[in-house]
Amino acid sequence: MKSHIQSLLEQTVATLKQQGLIPEETAPRIQVDRTKDKSHGDLATNLAMMLTKAAGKPPRELAQLIIDNLPASSHVAKVEIAGPGFINFFIDDSALAKQLQAALADEHLGVSLPKSQTVVVDYSSPNLAKEMHVGHLRSTIIGDSVVRALEFLGHKVIRQNHVGDWGTQFGMLLAYMEELRAQNGENANLELSDLESFYRAAKLRFDESAEFATRARQLVVELQSGDEYCNKLWREFNDISLSHCHDVYQRLGVSLTRADVHGESAYNDDLEQVVKDLDAQGLLSESNGAKVVFQEEFRNKDGEALPVIIQKADGGYLYATTDLAAMRYRSGTLHADRALYFVDLRQALHFQQVFSLARTAGFVRPEMTLEHMGFGTMNGEDGRPFKTRSGGVVKLVDLLDEANVRALELVRSKNPDMDEDTLAEIARVVGIASVKYADLSKNRASDYIFSFDQMLSFEGNTAPYLLYAYTRVAGIFKRAEDVDLSNAVIALEHDKEKELGNKLAQFGEILARMVDKGQPHVLCGYLFELAGAFSSFYEACPVLAADNETQKHSRLLLSQLTAKTLKQGLSLLGIETLERM
Ligand code: ARG
Repeated sequence: MKSHIQSLLEQTVATLKQQGLIPEETAPRIQVDRTKDKSHGDLATNLAMMLTKAAGKPPRELAQLIIDNLPASSHVAKVEIAGPGFINFFIDDSALAKQLQAALADEHLGVSLPKSQTVVVDYSSPNLAKEMHVGHLRSTIIGDSVVRALEFLGHKVIRQNHVGDWGTQFGMLLAYMEELRAQNGENANLELSDLESFYRAAKLRFDESAEFATRARQLVVELQSGDEYCNKLWREFNDISLSHCHDVYQRLGVSLTRADVHGESAYNDDLEQVVKDLDAQGLLSESNGAKVVFQEEFRNKDGEALPVIIQKADGGYLYATTDLAAMRYRSGTLHADRALYFVDLRQALHFQQVFSLARTAGFVRPEMTLEHMGFGTMNGEDGRPFKTRSGGVVKLVDLLDEANVRALELVRSKNPDMDEDTLAEIARVVGIASVKYADLSKNRASDYIFSFDQMLSFEGNTAPYLLYAYTRVAGIFKRAEDVDLSNAVIALEHDKEKELGNKLAQFGEILARMVDKGQPHVLCGYLFELAGAFSSFYEACPVLAADNETQKHSRLLLSQLTAKTLKQGLSLLGIETLERM
């Protein structure tokens, strides 16, 4: 409905231009907002105030002109001028009811699809040298839910798992793998089942044995020169490490596949060219033997220029060099309209620098956007970065195991008589959903405190609350299985029906905002409000015990659309629903 009003206003602006009332070149950003107080209508715009300067007329007078030229619409029951020149729209209830009825029959739940874009989404992107840890959790689940919403809206999404699969630390790891194999044969692969301790053991060998360290350095050189044996070793190592990641993805219900892996090593052959191109454009400077780029706008707090290092004195390339190559690939080969990066906010400066450099160097098409969707740190209940009791990094798998154990306790306490298999399945869903939802429901830019107690609570904006709300709505149908709804019609009479109807109609604009800003918490907040609107409706408006069949049918349809919207919304967050819990 919001976009409908927006398009009515766009047409009106065009008419005013034709009439010479506002200059041809004015291009106001037409904003339509939902009103808080429904006695002022459902939607409002400040367009008259925005145009008052261009038109040289006072806002209230202009507001009247806009109203006079507004195309007729059956969706608008009444339009009013308010305050200094706001225009308030009252939405026609029967038009809204028809819109909801149509949504019910539509696979996109009535959401109007925007012009389709190609969107590259860089997310998860762990370093393969080590075990995936909680720091990668946020990137993986926030990125995956934005990906799902983009696809639902009809965009072409290209997932890019930009894994760290290259760099000097691989020399050390390969040398250790080689050593273990010489001792234990293929059994050595077993050692890799715990990458974290494998890494530590390799590091220990590197520090204690000069001979080992020399071999490690030699392997780096051989790896880079494409040596067959060394590359095979490297591929085997990465393959094992990646399989750990994919176990986690599968468990989390994340949509990344092996085909989405396009790691740092994929750009090796392009790096030399990146340096040449920067050089040809006169962008490179020399700093202690390294090749760097200084950009005017990047300085530290003492005003000193901050360089982007492109190539080290020893010829090695850096993280930034690879990102430049990746941007060129995403623009030139993948033809992205947007490239989104779900990466820790601590890398904000890195992205500002390489984005700006890629533009200056012409590595990306001017119309392609580069968007760092940064996120804050996940902290423990002490407010400090999340660690194990002994101070080590928490492995993702261990975290999920604990969530599962706690969810099982919770579900069992609510259902003492349930059989073990059912309990286990419900606990699996609730455990994963709680971890994901706790993260997704916070504004990604803020740090947040990871708390099992909070995320597994049935109160507030949590996964258990929403999953339970869904089972309640779905439960109404179980009791109304034999009702024939084929001729049922939605009518919005009671205030609570109208409020619920209005909420339901917002699904599309919420999704548009979520993918535009890369903010799943917008969808979480919406689903929480929707569940609340349904509760109030259900309290005030008996469904199965309605006054008459027509009313009962209408209310059943409203419940059905609520259930579908909750389920679809949760699924875009990557969360499974349950029929009972
Ligand atoms: N592997 C990096 C890390 O763990 C994240 C990579 C993000 N993507 C990128 N294009 N730089 O910090």
